[in-house]
Amino acid sequence: MKEPLCFTFGTRQTRVSFQDRLDVAGGRLTERTVTVFDQTTHDLFGQGALNPVILKPGEQNKTWTSVERIVEAALQKGLSRDDLLIGVGGGVVGDLTAFAASIYMRGCRVDLVPTTLIAMVDAALGGKTGIDFGRYKNMIGSFYPAENLRISVPVLASLPMDEYRAGLAEVIKTALLGDAELYALLRSKKEQILRQDQTLLEGIVERCIRIKGQIVEEDFNESGKREILNLGHTFGHALEALSGFAWKHGDAVAWGIGRALELGTNLGLTDKHYAREISDLLRAYGFTLEIRGYEAADLFQAMRADKKKRSGRLRFVLQRSLGVTEVLVVEDGDVLEVLNGM
Ligand code: GLY
Repeated sequence: MKEPLCFTFGTRQTRVSFQDRLDVAGGRLTERTVTVFDQTTHDLFGQGALNPVILKPGEQNKTWTSVERIVEAALQKGLSRDDLLIGVGGGVVGDLTAFAASIYMRGCRVDLVPTTLIAMVDAALGGKTGIDFGRYKNMIGSFYPAENLRISVPVLASLPMDEYRAGLAEVIKTALLGDAELYALLRSKKEQILRQDQTLLEGIVERCIRIKGQIVEEDFNESGKREILNLGHTFGHALEALSGFAWKHGDAVAWGIGRALELGTNLGLTDKHYAREISDLLRAYGFTLEIRGYEAADLFQAMRADKKKRSGRLRFVLQRSLGVTEVLVVEDGDVLEVLNGM
């Protein structure tokens, strides 16, 4: 078993432990622990869970109503601030549970047990919590890191293939931000990665966690460096929201990375050869970089809600080449040119 990884995010510590078999509570269960699942993760991992809250699955349920369900259960079971909520699931369950923990009595304890690739390598680590509001993704939330993340890579075998593959978008993103070795692995070991070779996958998950953890330790509140983690997300969130969340987050981010490369190329920033190589890699992993049925003006409007906006102006994470990333204000016309060419 791997050694746990420990990070300091703001004033809080997060301990990431790796398990061969999923242990939801890690020995921390008391009668005042509430464990949050969605229907899918409860069916898979919820046997014998004490005080379960079972939410409806899916991004459509990342709402106040779900937060209320968690808070109601916490009140009913008499949780105090030093008691624990545990979230077992993908990004939606994790974000909801940690958000509820951040506001329950102004903050109780929270552990997360991510069960999807996207949650293991991105969503569960670093303390971003929240809910969607109307069409807007993660519009309400807080920075509130979990005390413990318990990761069992073998549970990924329970994921539908399209869910697993979508998670690889965040792995590719992490490599592009500056891990040449991970990038080389993604290029040379595609077949093994797609069929979830366990040894390879465990190494990849740990690598992504280390990279993200270091970035978030430097800039917990996202006032600088952390913004690069949003590569592809300004475009991606807009597509996700406009599709009524029919597009999976990872698929939308992969499309968004493609658009960010195109924008960077048009601006003379991104190396053309690099842009082509990354687009080819994304396609090789089954991501769609061309879409139909969406109006550029609608996507642009959806982008206006992006949280990286400063003084009302949109900012984009763009790359010159592998590991050379900048966050820039871009003129509306340049963004629209990319969207019109979709
Ligand atoms: N998912 C991007 C971040 O945690 O900052």
